[in-house]
Amino acid sequence: MSTPQILMCPPQFYGIEYEINPWMSTARQADHALANQQWADLRAILEKTGSTIAEVVPVAGLPDLVFTANAALVFGKRAVLAHFKHAQRQGEEVHFRAWLEANGWEVIAPPPNFSFEGAGDALFCGDTLFAGYRMRSDARGHQAIVELLGVRVLPLELVDPYYYHLDTCFCPLAPDEAIYFPAAFDDYGRRVLAENVPHLHEVAEVEARNFACNAVVVGKSVITNTGCPELHSLLRSLDYNPVDTPLSEFVKAGGSAKCLTLRLDGEEAAGWKV
Ligand code: ARG
Repeated sequence: MSTPQILMCPPQFYGIEYEINPWMSTARQADHALANQQWADLRAILEKTGSTIAEVVPVAGLPDLVFTANAALVFGKRAVLAHFKHAQRQGEEVHFRAWLEANGWEVIAPPPNFSFEGAGDALFCGDTLFAGYRMRSDARGHQAIVELLGVRVLPLELVDPYYYHLDTCFCPLAPDEAIYFPAAFDDYGRRVLAENVPHLHEVAEVEARNFACNAVVVGKSVITNTGCPELHSLLRSLDYNPVDTPLSEFVKAGGSAKCLTLRLDGEEAAGWKV
């Protein structure tokens, strides 16, 4: 197996400069030194799993550029670039595009007039792309994207503004296994998940609030924010190796471990993984 490759962006210009989700309050700033430390610790843990970390150069005035999960949906050597819903993040698109092009990806623009927030809302579990919509990405945009890529998509409506990206409430672990927070979906979405993921495990609300579902999976290692003990014991019983690391400063922006990363060679759970 080739070395896992992950894209990150150092938090040099990270901060809570606007409010585009219910976690964010400009009155509750991130501690800059602590954010730097937490980010560096996460990076070191990922390196210990054997991953190679690539970096996007941080840009002043783009505080959320650290959340590289939103850059694009990577599919082999093609990448469907994000088009952010909120103007505050649209300035990131050109930087993500430049990095991907410079590093050999064929960048596909998302369909015009739709918002699409990359791997934050589009996660493979096996050969199926699970795609979150309503809060940030548009359902019809997902449809157009899968026509471009020729994959099967299952759209999932997100119903709770605290879980505004799919990666805050659903995390594939393996091609037939995932964790999720049921209350973030409607009945239909819960049924779609139950019928299409053979081994589907629930995360409790207190741990979902600690971003338990926002996990980075590398091989059998599953990295999350602190405060997810129930999930970690479940993972151990399933033969995974959970690791926690404090990410409080990023939670203030509505993000955690997974949001700070973009897997470039395919998620562990993705059927197409190289
Ligand atoms: N403040 C960012 C936003 O609201 C956080 C993004 C988190 N990313 C994620 N993949 N869930 O867009």
